[in-house]
Amino acid sequence: MGAAVGHTSGLSGSRANVRAVVLDPRSRTRLKPATARFFVGEELFARLGRVVCAADCLPRKELFESWEVARRVRRRMRGGRVVDLACGHGLVAHLLLLLDDSSPSALAVDERLPPSAAPLAAALARAWPRLAGRVELRQAALGGVALGPGDLVVSTHACGALTDAVIARAIAARARVCVLPCCHDVETCDAGGLDGWMDPALAIDATRARRLADRGYRVTTALVPEGITPKNRLLLAEPAGEGLDAGARA
Ligand SMILES: C[S@@+](CC[C@H](N)C(=O)[O-])C[C@H]1O[C@@H](n2cnc3c(N)ncnc32)[C@H](O)[C@@H]1O
Repeated sequence: MGAAVGHTSGLSGSRANVRAVVLDPRSRTRLKPATARFFVGEELFARLGRVVCAADCLPRKELFESWEVARRVRRRMRGGRVVDLACGHGLVAHLLLLLDDSSPSALAVDERLPPSAAPLAAALARAWPRLAGRVELRQAALGGVALGPGDLVVSTHACGALTDAVIARAIAARARVCVLPCCHDVETCDAGGLDGWMDPALAIDATRARRLADRGYRVTTALVPEGITPKNRLLLAEPAGEGLDAGARA
């Protein structure tokens, strides 16, 4: 896209005009109003970057990760309520609505919502009024959230076995599910016996993909650019027999 932040390492949607100044997308530094000047132009990512900088609350990496995940999810899945589990600031939930209006609403759930989640949501709704009233931020454990077969469940960097809990909840509801796992833990996650052949983290994710396929899901795998996050394996799955683009679901 013709906007955004100077960075040279093969980013896709958030790739920038190559500029002299480089912003490391992996940085946990808070995006501040002064950083808005690096987000140049009128394309969506640039405008988003400026709004988030003005909100003065989001770690930089969350902007880049959320954007890259949301774009990849929306290429494959439309419609239905978005449910962002272990959502942190809930940016992925907002971006899924922003990128594609085929979902009527989103529920963003975290057992400890950051204090800045609500101000960030307000800033996004001010910038894009069509988001107003459509994203619910809920402080709750994900185990207590009711899911349905029309839902699009997403979860980025739910630590360790929390990703497995997300997948299990989605399977139980026959909901579509997209996860970007992190913090793989061989003690608490199932490597399926594959860790003699491959990196244990990869074995755990491969076993997750297999589990979904065994439950009748059609599985798609994708990578977020490593320059954005090294925990970059995106696993997308929907009950087999349902269209990849079920836009009528809403
Ligand atoms: C590494 S953060 C990821 C946050 C966000 N998705 C992101 O990508 O920036 C993991 C989040 O999971 C939340 N969490 C941990 N256990 C949870 C549970 N049982 N139910 C809901 N949220 C949980 C934490 O509060 C934390 O915000």
